[in-house]
Amino acid sequence: MCGIVGYTGTKNATPILIDGLDTLAYRGYDSAGIAVWNGTDIVMRKEKGQLQNLKDILKNDPISGSCGIGHTRWATHGEPSYINSHPHGDDKKQLVLVHNGIIENYVRLKAMLQERGCKFVSDTDTEVVAQLLGDLYHGDPIGAITESMRLIEGSFALAILFRDDPYRIYCVCKDSPMVVGYGKDGAHIASDIPAMLAYTRDVTFMGDKQIAVLSPEGIAFYDEFGTPIDKGSTHIDWDLDAAKKGSYEHYMMKEICEQPVAFRKTAEQYVNFKSGKLKADCFPWSDEDAGAVKRIRIIGCGTAYHAGLLGKLYFKRLAGIPCESEIASEFRYSGYEFEPGELLFVISQSGETADTIAAMRMAKAAGVRTVAVCNVIGSTIAREADEVLFTYAGPEIAVAATKSYLTQVTVLFLAALRLAQVRGRIDDARSRELIDGLAAVPAAMESILAKKEKIQYFSSREFSARHVFFIGRGADSALAMEAALKLKEISYIHSEAYAAGELKHGTIALIEEGTLVIALVTQPSLAAKTASNIEEVRVRGANVLAVTNGPMPDVESHCASVWRIEKTDELLAPFTAIIPMQLFAYYMAVQKGCPVDKPRNLAKSVTVE
Ligand code: G6P
Repeated sequence: MCGIVGYTGTKNATPILIDGLDTLAYRGYDSAGIAVWNGTDIVMRKEKGQLQNLKDILKNDPISGSCGIGHTRWATHGEPSYINSHPHGDDKKQLVLVHNGIIENYVRLKAMLQERGCKFVSDTDTEVVAQLLGDLYHGDPIGAITESMRLIEGSFALAILFRDDPYRIYCVCKDSPMVVGYGKDGAHIASDIPAMLAYTRDVTFMGDKQIAVLSPEGIAFYDEFGTPIDKGSTHIDWDLDAAKKGSYEHYMMKEICEQPVAFRKTAEQYVNFKSGKLKADCFPWSDEDAGAVKRIRIIGCGTAYHAGLLGKLYFKRLAGIPCESEIASEFRYSGYEFEPGELLFVISQSGETADTIAAMRMAKAAGVRTVAVCNVIGSTIAREADEVLFTYAGPEIAVAATKSYLTQVTVLFLAALRLAQVRGRIDDARSRELIDGLAAVPAAMESILAKKEKIQYFSSREFSARHVFFIGRGADSALAMEAALKLKEISYIHSEAYAAGELKHGTIALIEEGTLVIALVTQPSLAAKTASNIEEVRVRGANVLAVTNGPMPDVESHCASVWRIEKTDELLAPFTAIIPMQLFAYYMAVQKGCPVDKPRNLAKSVTVE
């Protein structure tokens, strides 16, 4: 999705803006632009396509100045083009701005402004904001911003340069993230934390409709009525290198390999491995609270939804609590009526996914207690949920989620274990067994990563596959969904996940000689059933690869290839079994020459509906 950066201070703004846009590029974009005050005027450079195109333009036609804003655009209103790329300005040439989000009433506002004589050059909703602000501007930037906010409907994060106040950047946002921070050479703004890390780790998250005014001397904040307010800052301890690729060819491979550490860091927040006990005070439930939970609902989008599917299984099997996991964009329009005693888990790596935020707000409005599982301190979801169980994955840059999924599943498992303990559903011996099992997970992951060439070799033989089916039962069915999503999003190979027993009710018609079927068989209690389903596709010509939980001769005998994870409790198997699936998707995409970290049409953080 779109990215915003801005800087005002003592240095040349252009390299700082370009560096920030480079850092934000992982979010997905199709054009980029900057605007800089060069001492006499605000000058813009923008271009369609990769950031390199903008860099090439700047090489031939540089701009320099100490105050500027920049943007990467992911098209929503109007095709990706030079004209539609940001920054946009007003007719009277009083200001330029960049915008993230969607202005929902832009058609109405545009008609009103056209009647007043405004001439539009682009198809964007953003230009409507620029023209509106231009129309309302009479020398008082904050006045114009507060007034425009009363007219605009939708979501926005805006960074604005006024020509007659050229060393200040005015920022405002609603339902679209924005952080500001003051570094040693001036003030910075960004739509995402990694773009700030090179300058400061102490950042301030902007609240809805709050205004920030950045100047070389500092940052001032105002509420939606223009009244000055104080805002504190949050220290971000992600280090700079965590958001860099290092010696890895792709962020995705780096992030896959970081999973043993991400898992350990996350688990250690909630578990004392020495005593083999959960850290009870890290969970938000008193005995009374835990007993009062009647039902759990989990919402998320994409990979976060898939983590929720495993969470559902854990809450049901471990804690004995009825649980459903739903896609946030469906749930919010489902007309669902919450019942007393329901608890809503909100899963989101970024904490900024528009549909997930909306579903969470719906629950809060209904008086339902919300618990976020989130990776970003200070994000909207982390701020608004009643409680937050943080994941400690560090910054995740590749669009395809890997370590965030793993850590989300980890937190959901531990939350279920905690509820199981408080509700008396599990005895000490079984709890200890599971915690000891968790302690062994990082080593089991490392042993898969150490043999990743085996998966690379397999992928080198299979990368021309046109369809891949993933099958499994129970937890494996949830894992299969995540495995299929990974493969399709980065390799563009059509892939489907099916509950193994459901295949014969239709989808088996698609199996023909050589079709690749990946059977996840990490649940010993269901293995015999899945083995029958494997046989059903094998006899119809499928080329079956099984992922097994240790040696499983009765399953392996039906399969052309086998990848084993280290034998473990079936509740813990998903932590390791997802890794070969991620590696498989990665190598298939690399073999096909796909842009692994930034797959076509996708964005890392989906801040629009
Ligand atoms: C996008 C990303 C996915 C992610 C989903 C939810 O679709 O490409 O990788 O799973 O958003 O994101 P969240 O930040 O809410 O976990």
